Amino acid sequence: MTLETNFLGIHFPNPFLLASGPPTASGAMIINAFKAGWGGAVTKTIGLAPTRLPDPRLRVIKDVRNLRGMVNIELITDMTVDKWAVELDRIRDAFPDRPIIASIMGGGDPYEWQEVIRRLAPHGVKAWEMNVSCPNFAGGRGAHLGQDPECLRPAIEWVKDATDLPVIVKLTPNVTDIVALARVVEECGAAAVTATNTLSGLAGIDLDALAPLPTVGGIGVFGGYSGPAIKPVSLRCVASIAQGAKLPILGCGGIETWKDAAEYVAVGASVVQVCTAIMWQGVEIIDDLTDGLDKYLASHGLESVDALCGRALPRLVTYPSVDMDVILRAQVEPALCIGCGLCVRGCASGGYQAINLVDGLAVIDREECDGCGLCVGLCPTSAIKLTAQAGIARG
Ligand SMILES: Cc1cc2nc3c(=O)[nH]c(=O)nc-3n(C[C@H](O)[C@H](O)[C@H](O)COP(=O)(O)O)c2cc1C
Repeated sequence: MTLETNFLGIHFPNPFLLASGPPTASGAMIINAFKAGWGGAVTKTIGLAPTRLPDPRLRVIKDVRNLRGMVNIELITDMTVDKWAVELDRIRDAFPDRPIIASIMGGGDPYEWQEVIRRLAPHGVKAWEMNVSCPNFAGGRGAHLGQDPECLRPAIEWVKDATDLPVIVKLTPNVTDIVALARVVEECGAAAVTATNTLSGLAGIDLDALAPLPTVGGIGVFGGYSGPAIKPVSLRCVASIAQGAKLPILGCGGIETWKDAAEYVAVGASVVQVCTAIMWQGVEIIDDLTDGLDKYLASHGLESVDALCGRALPRLVTYPSVDMDVILRAQVEPALCIGCGLCVRGCASGGYQAINLVDGLAVIDREECDGCGLCVGLCPTSAIKLTAQAGIARG
């Protein structure tokens, strides 16, 4: 069993890469993550001109129980290309075998893309990731460029003209049809796509100042939403690209655990990238990620990450293929029920009024239950499951 993988002709010791962002903002941070065991890294996006970064620029979004996501209004790196060349040399000296992908951004002028490539290519870069997906840019850059096939096509061609290394295009989820964009990338001869960058978002409003959050000197902007909350969106993007295009995929968006990563691989990602979870929990999460994935593969008789790639796709269909004759009903395991009443409230107002608390325990009326699954998700102790109900006809 090995987590080693060959992707785009590049050897990765494991499929867990640092995504472009704060965890890859400097050579020292990348080296530190490599020491912890990360399999590769995509640098913070590098442009011909560095940007300044607003203070504050991060807003963690919480619900009553957990951290849910994070909106950032960050731009690209604040370091110059020449400084990055020095940083890349440091990383290569410390970890010559650990692949570095340089994230790059330009606009509508080929020089902006090609000059960055020319200056960084001699410094050990193994592939380029075109950032055409950051929602925090206007004026034909970032997501604005990546949402428009007419702008995207020439940009990919300029980059390809400037390099023989694999060109990866990082897509934005902020489009109606991400598969159409993936096909444009494919037609242009890029090597792979990363799906996805952040989802466009507005973190909130400061109700005293009546200003957007995060508030920078009294005003604010839309930002990019990341973290666990966006996983269903990014996972859907990866799965639909895997079904509708032939390009290899780097999965990204809300990955926190080995299970998240395995799910991305199961719907077609070859390797995965992580950003927010590292910012929240530290580079040390790599141990749980590699351990968990390794054990999962072994327990399912899968010899490599490749063997898992895309294995869930044949079961991902569209309506009307879903089998409406499967009839399920909720069932409570009394020993696990703590009588909190969350299922009762949810079922009363958002379900079928099928659950009551009797002597402090949830009791389900299977005649009234419609098998929607809400109570299963609300139960904090996993006391409820759905079981097959024979003899009930629908309708
Ligand atoms: C603060 C912050 C800065 C980011 N900067 C970049 C960037 O410079 N270039 C880029 O391609 N993606 C950038 N991203 C996006 C991440 O690489 C990643 O695509 C996104 O956050 C979703 O993954 P996650 O949920 O694991 O964070 C940034 C994300 C965050 C949170």
